[in-house]
Amino acid sequence: MIRSKILGTGMYHPSKCVTNFDLSKTMDTSDEWIQQRTGIKQRYWIEDEKQTTSDLALEACLVALKNANVKKEEIDLLILSTLSPDHEFPGTACFLQSKLNILGIPALDVRQQCTGFIYAMSIADQFIKTQMYKKVLVVGAEIHSKGLNKTTQGRDVSVLFGDGAGAVVLGATEVQNKEDSQIFSTHIHADGTFAKELWVQAPGFAYPNDRLDLSAIERGEHFPKMNGKNIFTHAVKRMPEAIVECLNANQFKLEDVDLFLFHQANLRINEMVAKLLKIPNEKVFNTIDRFANTTSATIPIGMNEALKAGKLKKGMLVATAAFGSGFTWGSALLRW
Ligand code: ACO
Repeated sequence: MIRSKILGTGMYHPSKCVTNFDLSKTMDTSDEWIQQRTGIKQRYWIEDEKQTTSDLALEACLVALKNANVKKEEIDLLILSTLSPDHEFPGTACFLQSKLNILGIPALDVRQQCTGFIYAMSIADQFIKTQMYKKVLVVGAEIHSKGLNKTTQGRDVSVLFGDGAGAVVLGATEVQNKEDSQIFSTHIHADGTFAKELWVQAPGFAYPNDRLDLSAIERGEHFPKMNGKNIFTHAVKRMPEAIVECLNANQFKLEDVDLFLFHQANLRINEMVAKLLKIPNEKVFNTIDRFANTTSATIPIGMNEALKAGKLKKGMLVATAAFGSGFTWGSALLRW
């Protein structure tokens, strides 16, 4: 049977580390508040203001290709997930494709925010399983720091996010049994009735006249707005559901999983998910203390960091799940 598997991973983060103490110099916040509510100690924000999301993605892709021992010319499809695109159009995957110089292959943007990487992996997985493509480069990348309200007014959102990118190369593999390295399945969901619970309103073609309206900027509608409590409530419901869904689909039990790689929105969300599912803490790998929420990039960054820390090894059963704006949520189950 043909399945897809991860051939290699890569990540990139900017060099400027911004601690909670640094933030407390520009807004009314504290290291204690941020750590207690979110588990975040620091995040990386770009230093060179000319850097774009596709620049960060490029760095992560080059590392992933090298680690996968795959030449960029072998890639059949490029998928980039981001909520911080270089421009409104064309898609950021096109800018990335040009930088990678792998012209002619399809380049696709995914705009499913914190669940974006799972959506992107899911799309890649379908194309490989149906044997349309053999190798797909999937990358999640974000530059949040240029889009946040870094004053006290925006502190509930701005302390949560970091810049960064993570990539994987997926390749076709012939599998004999459940012990072989593979992606078993991916499961993706959305409920658009909550679309305005975490969103950026402007600029937008939903405005009656011009899509970029000075008065909208004056009202701060170009900054993300979030109903944090509602997100928390839904995240701790949907992520466990998604994990159970991917296990049931493949006749595995929770105890079979060696490592859980959850989206990194808030350490408290992940602790609650682990508690609800009765997962021991040592099976959950978190990076939020160092990188904060890098949205599309959290899961591949988690893979990279877990590999580096020796927590992710060949043969392990790995369950990933994410929840985010949209609302969107999903999971993937894989044998590393
Ligand atoms: N520093 C200091 N005080 C703050 C900050 C800050 N950065 N942000 C808000 N506060 C204040 C508020 O103004 C409020 O003050 P008040 O009591 O005087 O009105 C007080 O802290 C409590 O605010 P709440 O919003 O009630 O705080 P809460 O306990 O809900 O925690 C948080 C906020 C951490 C955002 C929480 O709701 C949460 O984690 N929600 C999940 C949202 C999330 O993770 N979003 C990430 C993006 S989505 C995703 O990736 C899934």
